[in-house]
Amino acid sequence: MSGPRVIVVGGGLAGLAASTRIVESGLQVDLFSLVPVKRSHSVCAQGGINACNEVARQQGYSEDQHCDETLYGGDFLAHQAPVRTMTHWAPKIIDLLDRMGVPFNRTAEGRRDLRLFGGSLFKRTHFSGASTGQQLLYALDEQVRRHESEGNVSKYEYWEFLRPIIDANGRCRGIVAQDLRTMTIRSFAADAVVMATGGPGLVFGKSTNSVMCTGAAAARCFTSGAAYANGEFIQVHPTAIPGADKLRLMSESARGEGGRVWVPKTPGDPRDPRDIPADERWYFLEEKYPAYGNLVPRDIASREIFSVCVDEGKGVRGENQVYLDLTHKPREYLENKLGAILEIYRKFVGEDPCELPMRIFPGVHYSMGGLWTEYTATSDGQLMEYGAPNSMMTGIPGLFAFGEANYQYHGATRLGANALLSCIFDGLFCGHGVANHARENAGTDADDTLFTSAVEAEAKLQSRLTSSTGNENPYAIAKAMGDEMTAAATVVKTEARMIEALDAIRSLQERASNIGLSDTGLWTNQNLSFARAVPDMLALAEVMLMGGIERKESRGSHYRTDYPDRVDDPFLASTVANWNGGKPSIEFEPVQLGIVEPRARTYGKKQTA
Ligand code: FUM
Repeated sequence: MSGPRVIVVGGGLAGLAASTRIVESGLQVDLFSLVPVKRSHSVCAQGGINACNEVARQQGYSEDQHCDETLYGGDFLAHQAPVRTMTHWAPKIIDLLDRMGVPFNRTAEGRRDLRLFGGSLFKRTHFSGASTGQQLLYALDEQVRRHESEGNVSKYEYWEFLRPIIDANGRCRGIVAQDLRTMTIRSFAADAVVMATGGPGLVFGKSTNSVMCTGAAAARCFTSGAAYANGEFIQVHPTAIPGADKLRLMSESARGEGGRVWVPKTPGDPRDPRDIPADERWYFLEEKYPAYGNLVPRDIASREIFSVCVDEGKGVRGENQVYLDLTHKPREYLENKLGAILEIYRKFVGEDPCELPMRIFPGVHYSMGGLWTEYTATSDGQLMEYGAPNSMMTGIPGLFAFGEANYQYHGATRLGANALLSCIFDGLFCGHGVANHARENAGTDADDTLFTSAVEAEAKLQSRLTSSTGNENPYAIAKAMGDEMTAAATVVKTEARMIEALDAIRSLQERASNIGLSDTGLWTNQNLSFARAVPDMLALAEVMLMGGIERKESRGSHYRTDYPDRVDDPFLASTVANWNGGKPSIEFEPVQLGIVEPRARTYGKKQTA
């Protein structure tokens, strides 16, 4: 190797931002992605990216207000210095993206336009129509292509991460990866490895995530010794289009642009929604939360919709669905602000949201939990130190986690439009720390046998799967896991149901040791790749349930009817799962406060008699 080298795994926003930053810091990057980077799941992000700007500032908004909203939104479970640093960097990040050519919507005066988003009373969300993730991804992709053309980035698209390579001192020295076309398994050496591999939506079967979002890469780091934190915090987005194959996001920006959620006051009302007069509609979010209305944070909106449909049986036409209504807004306005999601709804439902209210229901969307990481705070504890070589490093020296794979920033619920920010912030801010780490630790070549034995272990696992005569179907196991996890560990949880699910997951783990493949070929074998991910998903499912059982309180997205209140003593703490002897164990780690004092998280809910 000529000079320090960093491996970045994941071609989404966090991975591209990290690659850009690390190259700008003078190092070379090998970038691995399961799919062409422009197809990474970041491309599906719709509504926007939060940051204070001058217009927001004139309304009384500030970086500290953004920090406060993020901590309050996350029910105070996030370490505070990283959140404050991220929110203070946000305006600079938007300026940078603008200079890179992101086509942010503009006001008539030419300023970057802002929209309302969940958990805020201020307009502070920047957006590109309703395809913001795609626009940001393409802008960063261009930067990475430039670095690639200059020889500083080597891109490995259609390569799957199989495991980190860890030496006898416990340091990460590289990765094993597989070319998904030729199925070649190879090792790659590096002085630092960044996991920017996204979330584990597929653990829940159907979600708004792309179908490649198994969480397997993070799970493989976990079972190699990196801790996994706050796994029980899964975000259910209130507005998704139900689908037989998967769920499709209907962005919070629909509500940010004035969309209203309602059900007919008369349960089972068979009328066309356009024929139901306003006084016969129940705008339940507006009624219950007069200040935030339709823009309460996602966990709250999802619980309210769930309760209206499932507990009270008042869903539209008696089904699990409520109206998300934009029909009172002019078509031209909607096309300008929300064109991309209107198109998705027309394509997958066959109705025009400008004419008819959309029918939506909550769906699994995001994981606040992820690989446990560390950082260095400034001496006053208010910010993170720029360039610290442990910026978002897992417990395995040299192995970092960025973006959704990282558990930082969002606590118990992520605010809408803070995900794109945290991904890019990790890449740009913490990428510099990674480069410093790689530089400081470069120069000692690891023993070749470390790499050959890691490749052999993966080849052996592959050959066990391709030669297995087992009769278990990996897709059937994954379906059972998804159904169980969705029923037990999403909007409403109880101890009894989570214990039942844990038993079910453990018996699926046994079945998974007897998987047989329908395709045993060694050319573009997706069956093999999926089967290999099944035990990884099951390991994460186990962690999510164990954390949920241990956390005997309700906080943010983790809502237990048997423990309905938040209990700061002892649960103002992250769950940290470790893999011991092939099984997870859970402990609690206190949250680093010092900026905002925790307070009750009510969003001004109206008390009912
Ligand atoms: O609803 C949305 O547009 C999603 C945004 C996000 O998850 O941040």
